Amino acid sequence: MDRLSNVTPDACRFTQALVRLPGRSVVDGLRAIDRGAPCLAGVVAEHAAYVRALEAAGVSVEVLPALEAFADSLFVEDTALVFPEGAILLRPGAPSRAGECAHMEPVLRRRFSKVLALEEGHADGGDILTTSDSVMIGRSARTDAVGAAALVRLLATFGRRGVVVDTPPGVLHFKTDCALVDGGTVLATARLASSGVFKGMRVLVVPEGEEAAANALRINDRVFVGEGYPRTADLLTRAGLRVVTLPVQQIGLIDAGLSCMSLRW
Ligand code: GLY
Repeated sequence: MDRLSNVTPDACRFTQALVRLPGRSVVDGLRAIDRGAPCLAGVVAEHAAYVRALEAAGVSVEVLPALEAFADSLFVEDTALVFPEGAILLRPGAPSRAGECAHMEPVLRRRFSKVLALEEGHADGGDILTTSDSVMIGRSARTDAVGAAALVRLLATFGRRGVVVDTPPGVLHFKTDCALVDGGTVLATARLASSGVFKGMRVLVVPEGEEAAANALRINDRVFVGEGYPRTADLLTRAGLRVVTLPVQQIGLIDAGLSCMSLRW
């Protein structure tokens, strides 16, 4: 297999991150299939391991307080889209999550000089993949056509090109099924890769049976992958990436992955 460059591309380079502590209410987090509630102590431990991994990768992490009224609020990525040059406050598609943005707005205004806001439709950050040359917006059950089109217009004010694509049916978020692992390379499930959305990019296809590993997260010189997906870890290692595995068993019960627990720039 061709190995990836060992130079971190700008799209994978991060110095700052925001995370939010899980509240006790996290056990009531949204889930597509109920496989039982996550254990609170387990979620707290997985979240803490995630923060430590970000810091070990050279990222300065601001930890925001828990919001008990919002069970899913530790998944801060769905509330906003951030770039070094500014932020866009989003409109999450799940009604129970809409109120999370009011708590994120003052944080973004403190951290960014330019903050725009999506004013119509809905878009979750989990549906948005920033690559080296575009911002892919996956329509899904959470991100609608109106929100995606409005987001493309806002991205243009940052000089960024938004591209609207489709999330496979039945998949929560676009990034449930993919991750950027290098400037022009994605890790993706076979079902998403076969849709053709990554035309022109190199695609590493997640081995069958390990689809949940597709929500990986490249941070600087390493890529975070959920524990328990050895063939995906091997695939990424053979591609020349430094793999860090992280526990995701409990957050997985509420349909979470590694990208959704932080906003990074
Ligand atoms: N439990 C994460 C979400 O559905 O937004």
